[in-house]
Amino acid sequence: MTSLTDSALPTGSSILAGSSILTGSSILTGSSILVTGASGVLGGEIARLLAAKGARLVLTGRDRTRLEALGLPGSLIVADLRDPAAADALVEHALDANGTLDGIVNASGVVAFGPASAIGDDTLETLFAVNTLAPMRLLRAGSVALTASAAAGREPFVLTLSGVVSEVPTAHMAAYSASKAALAAWGKATGRELRRAGIRVFDARPGHTETGLVSRALEGSAPKLAQGLDPALVARRIVAAIVNGERDLPSAAFAEPVVD
Ligand SMILES: NC(=O)c1ccc[n+]([C@@H]2O[C@H](COP(=O)([O-])OP(=O)(O)OC[C@H]3O[C@@H](n4cnc5c(N)ncnc54)[C@H](OP(=O)(O)O)[C@@H]3O)[C@@H](O)[C@H]2O)c1
Repeated sequence: MTSLTDSALPTGSSILAGSSILTGSSILTGSSILVTGASGVLGGEIARLLAAKGARLVLTGRDRTRLEALGLPGSLIVADLRDPAAADALVEHALDANGTLDGIVNASGVVAFGPASAIGDDTLETLFAVNTLAPMRLLRAGSVALTASAAAGREPFVLTLSGVVSEVPTAHMAAYSASKAALAAWGKATGRELRRAGIRVFDARPGHTETGLVSRALEGSAPKLAQGLDPALVARRIVAAIVNGERDLPSAAFAEPVVD
């Protein structure tokens, strides 16, 4: 069962002191954006940048204390994305809080390691529930509001964060790779369906990023990994893509300097 509670933080406070991201009017100014995984490292970084661009945020994760610790203006809602009912509740909350929904950032996710021959059932189900089914359900729940956003002349988007494993499925991460490859395939097809309605669905596929995600695996331990990407730079690249209307962010895009 989903535990859903909400609270509003003060709006309008100044954030992102020290960031070099450019401010100014963009599709994000005044937009209503739902960020899942906001209590996580990439979700939190992305949320900070979105707030700096003037977005009105609805931030979700399972841990209220970590959501509050972000100190961002917006509305908080605690939800467990394993629950199929969470998607409808989150969209309803966003509409109650902001009146519109102009974007969904899917930055929640879980990982697991180990041989495909031994991975547990609970782990398989959680990987697919959180990484794959939750973004699918969220878009379904939000599609009417996103269509209305486009009709009102805004530029709604849905971002998925499948990661490089959807381009290069990886040994000892087979189920994680599969959950993310399914997400990427779904996003590509859905983007084609919704393009005419003016809704942009796009996928970001950064390589290994130093967020500590691998230390929070559902099962198993990570193979030795090379130094990963800087989460702050990955987040900046993603937010630049949102603002610039990009339609795909392959792994190679994260090797280039960020221009925002
Ligand atoms: N780090 C990388 O190397 C990398 C590379 C490519 C793509 N990605 C993807 O980027 C996304 C963010 O990853 P990250 O590295 O920032 O990891 P992270 O810091 O561990 O963040 C993961 C987020 O997912 C949330 N989450 C996990 N299970 C959930 C559930 N059952 N219900 C609701 N929320 C849940 C966590 O919330 P709580 O723990 O607060 O509940 C947390 O906010 C993930 O989808 C990941 O697969 C990561």
